[in-house]
Amino acid sequence: MAGTGAFLRRLDPDMCVVTAAAGGERAGCLVGFASQCSIRPVRFVVWLSKVNHTFRVARAADVLAVHLLAREQRPLAELFGGRTGDRVDKFARVRWRPAHGGAVVLQDAQAWFVGRVAERADGGDHVGFVLEPVEWGGREAAGGPLLRLADTRTITPGHPVD
Ligand SMILES: Cc1cc2nc3c(=O)[nH]c(=O)nc-3n(C[C@H](O)[C@H](O)[C@H](O)COP(=O)(O)O)c2cc1C
Repeated sequence: MAGTGAFLRRLDPDMCVVTAAAGGERAGCLVGFASQCSIRPVRFVVWLSKVNHTFRVARAADVLAVHLLAREQRPLAELFGGRTGDRVDKFARVRWRPAHGGAVVLQDAQAWFVGRVAERADGGDHVGFVLEPVEWGGREAAGGPLLRLADTRTITPGHPVD
C-alpha cells in the first residue's frame, strides 16, 4: 500500500547487531526492527526474520546479545547485514568474547547488553524476541552518533528475504 510505504520510509531507527549462540553454532545479523518494550521490568524486543540463519540459532538460545554501533562502523554492519552465516563465519572476522549464558559479545560495539529470552511473539515474517537484560557494557565515553537505518539502506541483505 503506497501510504504505508510513505510512512515507513520516514522511520530512521538506530540499528543493532543481534547475536545468538546455541548447539555449538554462533550467529548474528543486522537488525532495524528493535525497541524497548517495557519499563518495569526493563525489556527490549528484537525482531528476527524467520529465514535468517540468526533466527534458526536464536530459536534454541536462552540469551541473545544486542549491540549498538557507531555511524563509522558501517563495515561491521555490512558484514552482519550483507552476509549470511549460512555461507560465511562472521565471527572469524570480528573481535568477540563469550558472555553470560554463552552469549557472544562483539568487543567493538559502542554499547551492548545480553538479555534472557522472556517471550517470543510471532509478528508475521519476523519473530519478536523479548529480552530481559542480565549483563551489559560498552564504552564509558558518551560517544558520537550511532549507526542508523539511513546509513545502512544501501546494504543488500545477506539472506534472501523470501
Ligand atoms: C538495513 C537493514 C535492516 C535489516 N533489519 C533486519 C531486522 O530487523 N531483522 C532481521 O532479522 N534481519 C534484518 N536485516 C537482514 C539481515 O541482517 C541480513 O539478511 C543478514 O545477512 C542475515 O544474516 P544471517 O543469515 O547470518 O542471519 C536487515 C538488513 C539490512 C541491510
